[in-house]
This record gives sequence, structure tokens and C-alpha cells, in this order.
Amino acid sequence: MPNSISKPDKMDSVTIREIVPTDAARIVEVQSLSPEASQWIASEYEMLEAHRYMGWAAEIYGNVVGFIVVRRLMSDLEILNIAVHPETRRKGIASELLRFAFWWGQGALTDKAILEVRESNDAGLKFYAHHGFRISGRRHSYYKQPEEDAILLIAPIPHA
Ligand SMILES: CC(C)(COP(=O)(O)OP(=O)(O)OC[C@H]1O[C@@H](n2cnc3c(N)ncnc32)[C@H](O)[C@@H]1OP(=O)(O)O)[C@@H](O)C(=O)NCCC(=O)NCCS
Repeated sequence: MPNSISKPDKMDSVTIREIVPTDAARIVEVQSLSPEASQWIASEYEMLEAHRYMGWAAEIYGNVVGFIVVRRLMSDLEILNIAVHPETRRKGIASELLRFAFWWGQGALTDKAILEVRESNDAGLKFYAHHGFRISGRRHSYYKQPEEDAILLIAPIPHA
């Protein structure tokens, strides 16, 4: 991450914008193709504001192909869920979503990003390592169906 985070520019043909309630069905579709992501029900995406969550969708020609949902927890930016449609992965879309989340976290005066990831989620762990996250702990048998440890990750949010 850069030292100071300016509002990210758009990538070619990919638009990142805030999630609106009508995105819920398509987000659930992307999520269901991503079993490693938390499997939320549509109404949770329709009511992000009520939960004090913040979320962004990545759109290609009007189709939602990815999303991220975060919240501020004291001085932490918690990454609650993120997924990209399998057909559009490795194009930098999740990185752009994460950049928006960090930009927002900077404005919300958070100083670190935190999250949990399944131990077997190799792509997720590599994605976060690529963005400077390091392992801060482990929660034994945190996940069910299948039961698995959660790896806790943390990254600083730089301030200018
Ligand atoms: C993890 C996930 C969100 C990454 O999305 P993405 O748009 O493909 O990620 P990016 O293209 O921005 O990847 C950036 C970098 O992360 C690393 N990375 C991402 N996916 C990777 C993979 N499958 N294997 C190895 N490295 C990977 C690479 O360094 C990559 O850069 P590169 O493509 O130039 O090598 C996506 O794989 C996904 O939706 N997985 C299922 C849901 C999930 O696991 N969510 C996280 C749970 S907490």
C-alpha cells in the first residue's frame, strides 16, 4: 500500500462503486461461486447501512463481478467479506476493492486492517500477503462445515 491513499482511479472497464440494495441478488450469485467467502443472505447486503457496514461492488459493463464489505471497529478496519467472480480473477479487481476499503478506512481514522481467513484458503492467504498482511494469530476450529482454524491477518493502514 502507498504511504498516503488517494481516492483510487477507475481501472479500464471496471467500475468500483458503493453497493446499493439492488446489487444484493448478484452479489449473492458471485458469493455462491466463491465457497471460501462468508455465505451471507441477500438481506444482509440490502441492509449494510443498518449494520454500519460499508461495501463496494466491482462492475464490468453493468455486471457486478466482485464485492467487498468492511466495517470500522474502534480503530480497526475489519474486512468482513470479499469475493470476485471466478471468471474475472487475477485481473486486479479484488486489489482495487481493497484499495477503496483502505481509502475509506483512512478517512475513518482506522490504523489497521484485520480479518480472518480459513487456513485452507490458499488464494485468500496469498492475496492478503501480496497486500502486506501478516499473520497475527489463529482461532482453533473457528469455522464449521467444514471445521477449520481461522488465520488472523493484520495490515497497517498508512496515514499521510
Ligand atoms: C481472494 C480473491 C478475492 C482474490 O481476487 P482477485 O481479483 O483474483 O485478486 P487480484 O487479481 O487483485 O490479486 C492480486 C494478487 O494477489 C495474489 N493472488 C490472488 N489470487 C491468487 C491465487 N489464486 N494464487 C496465488 N496468488 C494469488 C497475487 O499476488 C495477485 O497478483 P498477480 O495476479 O499479479 O500475481 C479471489 O480469489 C476470491 O474471490 N476467492 C474466493 C473468496 C475468498 O477467498 N475470499 C477471501 C476470504 S477472507
